[in-house]
Parts: sequence; C-alpha cells; structure tokens
Amino acid sequence: MEDQCTQIPLLLFIALIFLVLLSLDCTALDTISANQEIKDGGKTLVSKQNMFEVGFFSPGKSKNRYLGIWYKKISYGTVVWVANREAPVTDRSGILKLSRHGELIILSDRNPVVWSSNSSVSNNPVVMMQLLDTGNLVVWNKNSLIWQSFDYPGDTILPGMKFGKDLVTGLERFMTSWKSPDDPSIGEYSYILDTNGRPQVFEWQGNVIVSRLGPWNGLGFSGSPVEKGNTIYITEYVVKEKEIYIRYELISSVIQRVVLTWDGKTRFLQWIERIKDWILYADTLVDSCDRFSLCGPYGICSINKHPPCSCMQGFEPRNPEEWEVSDWVSGCKRKKPLDCKSGDWFWKITGVKLPDTRRSYYNMSMTLRECETICKKNCSCTGYTSLDIRNGGSGCLLWLDELLDTREYNGDQDIYIRMAASELEGRVDSQSNFNKMKRTLIVVFLTSSTVSLLLVVAYTCRKKKKRTHMKTQENMHMLAEKNRSMQMEPFDDDIPFFRLFEVARATGNFSASNKIGEGGFGPVYKGVLENGREIAVKRLSETSQQGLDEFKNEVICIAKLQHRNLVKLLGYCIHQNELILIYEYMPNKSLDFFLFDETRSLMLGWPQRFNIIQGMARGILYLHQDSRLQIIHRDLKAGNILLDSDMNPKISDFGLARKFVGRDTNAKTKNVVGTYGYISPEYAVHGRFSVKSDVFSFGVLVLEIISGKKNREFSYGDHRDNLLGHAWRHHKEGKSIELMSGSLQASCVASEVLRSIHVALLCVQHLAEDRPTMLSVVLMLVSEGALPQPKQPAFFTGESHSEAQCVSVVDEYTLTQFYAR
Ligand SMILES: *[C@@H]1O[C@H](CO)[C@@H](O)[C@H](O)[C@H]1NC(C)=O
Ligand SMILES: *[C@@H]1O[C@H](CO)[C@@H](O)[C@H](O)[C@H]1NC(C)=O
Ligand SMILES: *[C@@H]1O[C@H](CO)[C@@H](O)[C@H](O)[C@H]1NC(C)=O
Repeated sequence: MEDQCTQIPLLLFIALIFLVLLSLDCTALDTISANQEIKDGGKTLVSKQNMFEVGFFSPGKSKNRYLGIWYKKISYGTVVWVANREAPVTDRSGILKLSRHGELIILSDRNPVVWSSNSSVSNNPVVMMQLLDTGNLVVWNKNSLIWQSFDYPGDTILPGMKFGKDLVTGLERFMTSWKSPDDPSIGEYSYILDTNGRPQVFEWQGNVIVSRLGPWNGLGFSGSPVEKGNTIYITEYVVKEKEIYIRYELISSVIQRVVLTWDGKTRFLQWIERIKDWILYADTLVDSCDRFSLCGPYGICSINKHPPCSCMQGFEPRNPEEWEVSDWVSGCKRKKPLDCKSGDWFWKITGVKLPDTRRSYYNMSMTLRECETICKKNCSCTGYTSLDIRNGGSGCLLWLDELLDTREYNGDQDIYIRMAASELEGRVDSQSNFNKMKRTLIVVFLTSSTVSLLLVVAYTCRKKKKRTHMKTQENMHMLAEKNRSMQMEPFDDDIPFFRLFEVARATGNFSASNKIGEGGFGPVYKGVLENGREIAVKRLSETSQQGLDEFKNEVICIAKLQHRNLVKLLGYCIHQNELILIYEYMPNKSLDFFLFDETRSLMLGWPQRFNIIQGMARGILYLHQDSRLQIIHRDLKAGNILLDSDMNPKISDFGLARKFVGRDTNAKTKNVVGTYGYISPEYAVHGRFSVKSDVFSFGVLVLEIISGKKNREFSYGDHRDNLLGHAWRHHKEGKSIELMSGSLQASCVASEVLRSIHVALLCVQHLAEDRPTMLSVVLMLVSEGALPQPKQPAFFTGESHSEAQCVSVVDEYTLTQFYAR
C-alpha cells in the first residue's frame, strides 16, 4: 500500500521529465553556446522563422560531408553557404564546435582541425553562435560580432550581404563558383568587385575576364536596365574611404538569391511558391555583346547588327584583315591622330554602356564642364562623362586609357570622346544642320494638327455593328473635338504618350475599315500618323481604373525591351478606361497569313522559314533572359509572329500577359492566356507557366512552319494523332522529312529541316523539365553536334484520342472566351 503511494508520484515525475525532453526535442534551436557542438547526424540548428538550417550534408552524388547552411522552409536543401569547402570530412564523424574564445572548429575522428574560422577573442569569453533568418551564421560576444558567414560568401549572395572590399582590414567579399554540383570546392569562376578606378564588377574564368557589370551611374549599373521604380529590391552602391561595397536588400516579400553556378552563370533567382521552384529573374550574360571586350578598344558592340562589332565614329579597324574575318580583338584606331598641344575636341556618343573604368579618375563634386577642362588639359585623358546621371548629371568620370568594352545600350548617358580637331571640323556643321531640321519638323508637326482632324471627322462611323460600339465611337468623337483645343502634353520621360484624339485621327476613328486584326487582348487597327508613319494600334480590352499607373510602368518596361525580333513599341495612350498601345506597322501581316494559305505559302521558301525559326528563337531568348525583367510570353502562336518587309519575324504581344494575368495567382484556370494548340500541358491543366511553356509553343510553331499545317486542325489518315504525335511517330521511324510541306521540296536543305524538327520535338516533350531552355534551342539550331533523343510529346496518348483529352481537363469555355481566335 505504502509502496504504491510513493510510486505514483515518481511515475508522474518521470513522465513529466519525458514530456519536457520530448518538447525540447521538437523546438529546434537557433543558438548554441561555447563548448557546445553540432554533430553529423545529430541535431541541426534552425533559424527562428524556420528559414535556414545549418548542419552537415553531402552535395549531389558526393559522399563527402560538409558543414553548410541551406534553406529550410522553402526550397529545402538548397545550400547557400559551405564552411569546409576545400576540406571535406570523408566519414560521418564530423563535429562543429564553438570554442570558448569564439572560434568555430570542424573536427573529425581522424583530424582534430578539419577547418577553423580562425576567429577568437581573448577577453569576455562568453560567446554564442546563432543562425539568423537572413541565412547569416554569426558568433556573438556580448552584442559584439566576432565572426559571420556573410563575410565569406561562396557561390551565393543573399540579400543583406555586402559584396566588395573593406579597405581597413583588407577583407574582400566576392563569389566563387563550385567545381561541380557535387563538389563545393573553389571552381573556375569568380565574381569580384574591382576597386581600381571607378569600381565595377567583373566575372572571371580563371584569369580571363568573362563579363563586366558597368559602373554605377546613380540609377543602375551602366549597361543594365535602370533600377528606378524597382519594387522588389534596392541596390546600395557604397564608395567610402573605409569600404567599397554593393549590397542589395529585398523590399517586398519576394525571396531572391544570386548564385554563380559552377559553369559560370551569374543568376538572379526568384522563388515562386506556387510552382515551388526558382525562376531566373535576371542573368548577367545576356547576349554576345556582354562578352568582355568582344570588339576590342574603341569598338562598339551592337546586338542588332551583323556582324555586331563596329568602330566608334572617327575610328577604323586597327587590323582590317582580322576584322574582315570577324576577329575583332585588336579593335580600332584613330583615323586622325590626336594633337594634344594644339587642342583636341570631344565627340559625343549617346546610348552606350560606359567603357571599362579600371583606369579612370572620378570626382563627385565636379561639374561636367570642369570635367571637360581637366580632360582637355591632361593628354592621356581619352574621354569623360558625368558620374551620376540623376537630376541632369553631376560629378566627373574620365578615362586614362583606350576605351574598352562598350556596347550599344538604351540608357540616357552620353560620353565625350577625345578627337583630333581636324576629325571634327566637317561633323560639327552637319550636326547643327540636323538639329535645325529637327526643330523645323517639330514646329510643322505641331501646327498642322487641326487640318487632318477635319479629314477624320469626314471619315467617321461607316459601319456601326453594335450599340455599345456606337456609343464609344460617339464618345470618342466628342473627345476628339474637346481635345483639339487642349495643349499637347509634354512627352513622358521614357516613351511617347499619345493623346486619344491623335490615335483616333490616325486610325479613322477606329473605323472598321482600318481594323487589321483581333489579337488576344483586343482589336488592332492600322493607322497613319501625321508625319506619314504607319502604325499599328492595339486597343486593349477594358480593365479597371486602378491599374493605370501600374499599366504605365508596365508599358515603359515593355518599351525598353528592344530586339530586332520583337515588334517595337512606339508609344501608348491612356484615357479613362482606354488603354492603347502603338506599335510599328508590319506590312507583311503575320506568319499565319502566309503559312496556312495555299498560294501565299509558296512565297515562304525554306531559307525564309529557317530564318523565321531562328529569329523567333532569338526573340524569345531575349525575352527570357533580358536582365532584370524576365518575360514569359504565354501566347506564342503564328498570329503573334509578325513579318517585316523582308520577311523577318517580329514577336508581338510580349509583356502583356504580365499585366493582364500575372498578378492573379489564385484563379489559375480562369486566367489562362494562350491559344488552343499552342499551350503546354502543365499550363493548360494546372495553370502553371514557366519559360518552358514558351519553349513548348515554340516547338509547335516550328512544326507548323515546316509542315505548313495547323496543330489544332491537324488530321492524318486514320490516326487521331495531333501534329506533335504525328511528327514524333515519323521521327521514331526515321522518316521525319515526310513531315515537310510539299512546297518546300525545291528549296529545302534536308539537314536543316531534320535538325529543326528534332529540336522542335525536344521542345514539345511532355515534361517541362525535359524541354531545353531557349538558349540551348538557339545553340542547337545552329550547331552540328548530336542532339538528345526526344521523349514522347505532350498530348500523345498512343492510339486514339489525343487533343480531346486535353480539352476535357481545361475549361474550354474560358479559354475560347478569353483568348482563342
Ligand atoms: C585558418 O588558419 C589556417 C592556418 O593559418 C589556414 O590554413 C586556414 O585556411 C584558415 N581558415 C580559414 C577559414 O581562413
Ligand atoms: C574634386 O574636385 C573638387 C573641385 O575641383 C576639389 O576641390 C576636390 O578636392 C576634388 N576631390 C578629390 C577627391 O579629388
Ligand atoms: C593625368 O591625370 C592622371 C590622373 O589624375 C595623372 O595621374 C596623370 O599624371 C595626369 N597626366 C598629365 C600629363 O597631367
């Protein structure tokens, strides 16, 4: 009896202890103190909000053990930092220990010091180690920092990390790639802030420079899109006596990281929770002009030209024979030698990325005029510019060396290049003449506006289909009258703003006879501006009022995307609920106009079609990889590939999907933009889109271009294959060439046709991850190497029904309602 009574409390007590231990086990710790340790296979440390975890891991296929920090809550296991990169533990006996003096040590059975942070303090030896939610592993001592992992970046830069140099301690924070996905030891590539002259960032491969991020100009890195209005992150560029660094901080809930991949790509990645994956937000090496100094000294690289290299004005190839065979390294030389003593002049060049500034001088308080004076006096000065382009420009930056690594770029910075006086004489005259002419033209343009308005009034309202339509037209009419007396607004800072009455005038008041098409987002009209320029006017379907500012930003972003295979946006117009985009006019309409017409398709021989395929690929690649702004088109189809007078393809409607459906991630199916026959399965079924959904549509387009048949209307014999299935069957049977349209017999180059079909089949594979990126597509199209075998295409079910399956899953009504033609 007595025994029992004493035993019950004892049991309770044990149970209680057990519970306490259990609960301790469940709440992970983010801190350990001196003399405590983290064992391989034991408990890890987890940051407070569960963002990051630190512990031992093995990368990829490797068996080696490393101490690292990885994401926990999202992207579990993605490693952002490794301690013992060069010194793996080869068994599972690794232990991380925090010494009493604040030193982190990794030891194993075989080795008492595998790695050490080499940090220690002699006084106040009460220390602890903590993993923060920023991904920073810190060693504290009474609120003072002893050591932090952020000071020793590996292949990843996280928001809040400083990237650069501490000029007092000499500590340099830069990125180094891994050797391979299985080996975190220091690889070939590094990404470093160079503090010579005006600081800039270089990517190195061994001891060769791969690419350069231009110097900071107050708004962004010269050569990269301006960061003004960026709502995702802010970039700090700090040049002080004691330190020089770049740091970026997220200002929204977006999660991003910058990683230097083992094969040398510096990428901004962004986490998309919905697809549980990282997408490429920006890439430093976008096109061949980003290759460091491709065109040599005094050369200018232009991605819109073939060949891309040319000499600056007043310069000629240093070695014409080499230049002739596309070897541009030796660059250009002056046509007329400088004569510093008797006075040189400066020639202004606009719209270029600033040349390499490693040998430059800068001063923040000088004016541009002072800058010129200094440059003129110093005979080794080759050119100058403003240091900061904000508020009309301030400061002085001057070059003391040949001008290297310049490319055309759509920014508002001018550089002034030293020239022999004799070189400039002829030019100054023609320049001022040109300006005079420009001024006259503008005056004529402004004064003649009323005349053509009268013409428009006489031309209006031919056919009125519906009441609502009529009403809008009347409104527009009145508007046109009202606006006539108003003054023209000044142009927007970045892209011309058109008044509604101007657009109405140009398009015959949006007359039915001017309508040239009905695109995904609304009708398209042909128009003629007063200066005779032909335009295409896209009147977007009405959206709510509140998005107007956003819309404007979006338009400005789109306008900055410039590529020879994208339709150029000339301006926009916003008036109440009207949103209108003004594009260059394409005389040859769109690809479907030619491709699917028996007679007109004869005008597209194989060389033209191959050119169209390659042009489309380059255009899409540009959209996918343009720095800062990754655009997924989402509605690539023959009707959106316009053709210029030389039958060069130009992609239209890019960027719109972002505005119109990009924000709303909940109502997925309802918002599927896209056209039946071109959309990928994961997009059609789950509303999940990525660059790979564009790759899919591209693949369909290529097959259509080669076969001359529409995917959605395809039928063949007694199979119920769609075009993709049909192409795949033929490919497997080794008779791909039979897919080719008969009209190409005479002009085709069989190897190119087969290669294109093969690449297209890789693009339409069922699983998004199997499909290549656009970069690989572009490369595969031109290279001659072997290609991987394509797996089964999407919507392929073997024997019977093919597309029918897809339809049953997609809400077809919504699809057609929204966007199908
Ligand atoms: C710490 O110091 C040792 C000896 O000088 C050196 O070999 C090791 O690389 C240092 N560790 C780090 C992380 O710098
Ligand atoms: C910058 O220029 C100003 C005005 O010419 C001069 O007073 C100042 O010393 C210069 N600063 C540096 C760092 O050279
Ligand atoms: C030109 O300026 C640079 C930088 O200020 C200076 O190092 C160099 O000595 C100057 N050269 C002459 C000839 O004044």
